[in-house]
Amino acid sequence: MFYKKSIDQLRAECSGEGELKRTLSAANLISLGIGAIIGAGIFTLTGTAAALHAGPAVVLSFLLAGLACALAGLCYSEFASMIPVAGSAYTYAYATMGEFVAWIIGWDLILEYLFAASTVSVSWSGYVVSFLKDFGIQIPPHIAQSPFNYDSSTGVFTATGAIINLPAMFIVALVTVLLTIGIKESTKFNNIIVVVKLLVIFLFIGFGISYIKPENLTPFIPENTGPGAFGFDGILRGAGIIFFAYIGFDAVSTAAQETKNPQKDMPKGILGSLFLCTIIYVLVGWVMTGMVHYSNLDVPDPVAVAVNSAGEDLFWLRFPIKIGAIAGLSSVVLVMLMGQPRVFYSMSKDGLLPSSFAKVHPKFKTPYVTTIITGFVAMIIGGLAPINLLGELVSIGTLLAFAIVCGGILVLRYTHPEIPRTFKTPLFPYIPILGILVCLYLMYGLPWHTWERLIIWMAIGIIIYFFYSRKHSKIRNSITNK
Ligand code: ALA
Repeated sequence: MFYKKSIDQLRAECSGEGELKRTLSAANLISLGIGAIIGAGIFTLTGTAAALHAGPAVVLSFLLAGLACALAGLCYSEFASMIPVAGSAYTYAYATMGEFVAWIIGWDLILEYLFAASTVSVSWSGYVVSFLKDFGIQIPPHIAQSPFNYDSSTGVFTATGAIINLPAMFIVALVTVLLTIGIKESTKFNNIIVVVKLLVIFLFIGFGISYIKPENLTPFIPENTGPGAFGFDGILRGAGIIFFAYIGFDAVSTAAQETKNPQKDMPKGILGSLFLCTIIYVLVGWVMTGMVHYSNLDVPDPVAVAVNSAGEDLFWLRFPIKIGAIAGLSSVVLVMLMGQPRVFYSMSKDGLLPSSFAKVHPKFKTPYVTTIITGFVAMIIGGLAPINLLGELVSIGTLLAFAIVCGGILVLRYTHPEIPRTFKTPLFPYIPILGILVCLYLMYGLPWHTWERLIIWMAIGIIIYFFYSRKHSKIRNSITNK
C-alpha cells in the first residue's frame, strides 16, 4: 500500500517518448485556468449562496473559499513545477504518500472533474433553455430537467415529473467529440470563449456598479436564522458551496505533459488564473447583492436578475450576459472533461486501471478511450442528477483532494528535500498546514448528507483498489517480482 513512484521515474516518464504533444504556453494555461474556473459557480451558485446562506456577506464567503484555493494553489504549483506529468494530484500523491493514498486521491478526483462536468452541463442547460425562450423557442421542460429535485438541508428527493435533461447531455457529447479530435484545436476554442465570458463579466461589473443601492448591502451580515443560514455559520456554508466556483485552477496541472515549459509555466498558469478569478468573483458578488436584495437571488440566472433590476437602462445587457454564461459554461465543461481522462490515463499507465484506458489515438494523439468513457458517464449523470446535489458533492470531493495535496507538500519537503523545486511554497510549513485546516473547515461547513455520499464513494474506491488495482499495480509487481 505504501509503494511509491520515484521522482526520477516520473521525470523520466514525462521526458521520454512523450506520447502527448507539448503545445501549451503560460498564457494558454492561464486561459485554460480561467476557462475551467469561471462557470456555474458564479453564474448560478452565487445567487443561491447569497439568498439562502450568506446575504451580501457572500463576498466574505468568496474570500474564505479563495483563501483555501490560494493555499492549495501554492502547494499545487510546487508539485507541478517538481513533477510535471499528466496525472495532477494523483501523481503527486504517488510520489509522496504511496500507492494507496494515490488511488484514494485519483478516485476522489473523479468526483471533481467528471461530476463537475455534469454539474456545469446542468447549469448550461438552464441558460440555453432561458435564452431560447427569449426567442420564442420553448424546449419542453420534461426533456430539459432532472427527474429529481433535491432538498440539500433535509436530504429528501422529490420527483419533478421530467424525464431527462437532454440539453445537458448534448453539451457533454459535443465537448467529448472536440476533445477526441485534439487538444490544440480544443485550446483555440477555449481561448475564444474565455475572451467572451470575461468581456461579459466586465460589462456586468462596469455598468452594474452605478446601480448599487446601499440599503441592499445593509445589514452586510444578516442575522443567523438556523444552521447554515446567515450569520457567521451562513458565511461558512456559503463558502463551502461557493468553493465550487474556484474549482478548475488545478485542472491546469493535468495539462503538464502537454506544456512546453512546465517548470516555469505551471505556477504562472495556476496562480495567475486563481488570482484573477478571485478579484472578479468578489466584485461580481458585491455588485450583484448591491443591485438587488439577496432574498431575490435564489434563481438559476442571478446575474440576469440583477441586470433586470436596473430596469430599461440595462435591458440591452441581458442577451450578452446569457450568451457569455452559455459560452463560459461550455468552456468549463471542456476543461473538466479534459482533466479527467488525463488522470485516468496516468492511473492506467501505472496499472491501477485497465491498460486500455491509456490508449492514445494514433492520429489525434489524444487519450481517446478515456475521453469517450468519461464523456459517456458525465453525459448520463448530467441527464439525470439535480445541480445542487452534484455541486455539493464536487465541492466536498475537491476539498478533500486539496487537503491531501497540501499534506503531500509537507511530507515531501521532509522526505525529499534534495529534489529541485523551481517553485517553492512560501512560509513553509505554515502555508500547507493552514491549507489543510482551511479545507477541512470548509468541508465541516457542508451538510451531513454530502459527507455520507463522500464516504460511500470512497468506500467503493477502496473496494476496487483491493480487488483490482493492488493486484495489477506495475510498481508493486516490479518490486515484488525482483
Ligand atoms: N469553477 C467551475 C464553475 O464555477 C467548476 O463552474
